[in-house]
Amino acid sequence: MIFRQLFEPTSSAYTYLIGCEETREAALIDPVLETAERDLAAIRELGLTLKYTIETHIHADHVTGAARLRDKTGSKAAVPEPSNADRADLAVREGEAIMIGKLCLEPLFTPGHTDDHYAYVLHGADGARVFTGDALMIDGCGRTDFQNGDAATLYRSVHDKIFALPDDALVYPGHDYQQRRVSSVGQERGRNPRLGGGKSVDEFVAIMAALNLPRPKKMDVAVPANRECGEVQAD
Ligand SMILES: [Fe+2]
Repeated sequence: MIFRQLFEPTSSAYTYLIGCEETREAALIDPVLETAERDLAAIRELGLTLKYTIETHIHADHVTGAARLRDKTGSKAAVPEPSNADRADLAVREGEAIMIGKLCLEPLFTPGHTDDHYAYVLHGADGARVFTGDALMIDGCGRTDFQNGDAATLYRSVHDKIFALPDDALVYPGHDYQQRRVSSVGQERGRNPRLGGGKSVDEFVAIMAALNLPRPKKMDVAVPANRECGEVQAD
């Protein structure tokens, strides 16, 4: 398997490049518009063909690179079914694996940060990786106060779907504001200060209600653009 973790500094967002060594097919999870050219260069350098861009959810803090990458490569934009995105090529559903050559990516419906959120599990010979988007981050999680977010729903998603994976499954988050890159299910279940260490759903709901976060700066641009797979007007 070919694997790269790519970072976009403005939104502290991670994009994941997954490639099949045998078929040379590749996918990008959560590409960002501003770094689409960099992602394409990496794909070309590795001798891969971009088959899919795959979203974890409709992002509020950055615009997806999906439409730009599709224009340049003919890749298909895979978007969670509940996002109801215009111009999506593939609706992501739980139970319907996404094949990247011989690699199998398993979608897990994990609402709570938003009502359309999916995480993705990649099973490999060396164990599992889970791309947790904004449902579960290293020592944290995504906010639950807009886009139909709901803290109790997020708690259930993380506990029932992500914490159900093996301890040694690697956790790759959608963001990290301190540039930490990877964690594990065992580590987050044990010591995530919001969701792990035996925290109850009521404790989690109280933590999330007390956050009082500012609105993301790009939200008014990013959400409508992402509903169209990142198709943005020239102005
Ligand atoms: Fe998000």
